[in-house]
Amino acid sequence: MLDRLDQQPPDALLALIKLYDADPRDDKIDLGVGVYRTSEGGTPVFACIKAAEAKLVAEQDTKAYLGPEGDMGFVHALMPHIFAGDDPSFGGRIDGMQTPGGTGAVRLAVAMAKKAGVTRILMGTPSWPNHAQILADTGVEMVGFEHAAADGTANMDALRDALRSAGPSDAVLLHGCCHNPTGVDYSDAQWDEIAGLLVETGVLPIIDLAYQGLGKGMEEDAYGTRKVVASVAEALIAYSCDKNFGLYRDRVGAFYVLGANAAVTAKAMSNGYALARANWSMPPDHGASAVRMALTDPAMTKQWTEELDSMRARIRQVREKLAAASNAGGVNLVPLGQQQGMFAMLPLSKEQILALREDHGVYMAGSGRINVAGLTMGNIDKFVDALAAVSG
Ligand code: LMR
Repeated sequence: MLDRLDQQPPDALLALIKLYDADPRDDKIDLGVGVYRTSEGGTPVFACIKAAEAKLVAEQDTKAYLGPEGDMGFVHALMPHIFAGDDPSFGGRIDGMQTPGGTGAVRLAVAMAKKAGVTRILMGTPSWPNHAQILADTGVEMVGFEHAAADGTANMDALRDALRSAGPSDAVLLHGCCHNPTGVDYSDAQWDEIAGLLVETGVLPIIDLAYQGLGKGMEEDAYGTRKVVASVAEALIAYSCDKNFGLYRDRVGAFYVLGANAAVTAKAMSNGYALARANWSMPPDHGASAVRMALTDPAMTKQWTEELDSMRARIRQVREKLAAASNAGGVNLVPLGQQQGMFAMLPLSKEQILALREDHGVYMAGSGRINVAGLTMGNIDKFVDALAAVSG
């Protein structure tokens, strides 16, 4: 029976990790999968997480099951950072649950939207490739629109048209900040307009907030999410701590529901628990417990904020140095200075991407996406030269 299955290709982005690891060249550059790297090229565990983990080992007295909602102390500790305000639960209209990474949260959001009657999800393209895979696997139709205009800013005309041609049984998947893969974010004024359009059209927003703190700052990066949540009756929010707490393989995420009232939210959450139970039963505990400890201990929270600040500053420094190089061969690097977060798209052909890998040891996604955090002050020149060599 199993021979009826078709062979599936490995996930192209994750396959790059192995290709890079197998390359013996000392000066190879990894701009593939989205993990933050220090100026020495490493991805160390945050000091605040090490401290939280030590406390966890000393204090945790059981690993007995929680429920499908996971660690609610973690879920609540994050809420003031995401939603802010005196009451981040909006009088019970917002509630959440822990998920295995941001992917688990996106999966729950899409599955819940489908269960509630959504058949189409509008999505700016290009997007994180797994978004389309989740939509396809969940059986929801994806309606694409162009995310970034030719000038390297968000294509508001395309978003406006997409929203105005949709209605209350449709949803739209928006990146809260640090757009993956383009780095092209909405300005605050654009978010204000988007919130108005969502109210006008009744389209359900699903916001994927996977990089809070890696763009302009924790507060600034939450502007769009907060604006939308303050404007609309209902929204679904997928959150990831994998990047801003450096917990990638521990899979730490959360899923939040904003309902029209507390009773609607409670009913929606009961569906979230049922979906989680049928998928993964309950999320892995360790990383979320460490985040809860870090966010409920003022000294550790301060340490985390400083660590995140320094990551953001380094990403900004790399972006500025790339923008200052202005172009490499035919590739215009100037817009990278205005864009946010870890990613940028370079207009390269498959052949150029392959030549960068084979001839220069520069690894990037097949789409032309680079993880700018993979660059350091020590290897940017080599990268720019390699880019010029393949695209000149
Ligand atoms: C990325 O886009 O590189 C990250 O979100 C990692 C992943 O799971 O794809």
